[in-house]
Amino acid sequence: MLTYQAYKLIHLFGIFLLLSSLAGLAAATFAGAEQKVRKLVLAGHGIGLFVILFAGFGLLAKIGAWVDTWVLGKLVIWFLLGAAPFVIRKARGAAGWIFWLLPVIAGLAAWLALYKPGA
Ligand code: HEM
Repeated sequence: MLTYQAYKLIHLFGIFLLLSSLAGLAAATFAGAEQKVRKLVLAGHGIGLFVILFAGFGLLAKIGAWVDTWVLGKLVIWFLLGAAPFVIRKARGAAGWIFWLLPVIAGLAAWLALYKPGA
């Protein structure tokens, strides 16, 4: 079993990969060049999502918590960021502001982990 620090590093790696992939997709869509980057960023997006979930549950086991309110909030955010490529594709015109919204949503997930509301 991995250490708490190792799970945290893996969790962060997944987050960086997910966010850089989504930012790349939003920026490319904004510039009208979505098709060229789609394969690359969708691979990064999928791997990032999986890694975040894997390490998220590893961290939960390490701190001895279970699915509390704050964890449910993080799972909702995980789903939202998972659905983001569909939203960007459907609402192309909104890709510019979705670019700014993504780090705010991720910041909310970090806030949930740090303050654990409801725990
Ligand atoms: C894409 C969504 C997510 C983002 C952006 C995110 C972000 C973060 C960040 C930045 C931290 C580090 C906070 C610190 O310094 O302690 C963290 C910790 C953590 N995350 Fe996530 N997370 C996400 C999804 C999840 C999911 C889905 C789970 C559970 C299955 C989860 C469980 C945890 C746990 C247990 C911790 C450690 C809390 C502690 O050490 O007290 N995260 N997350």
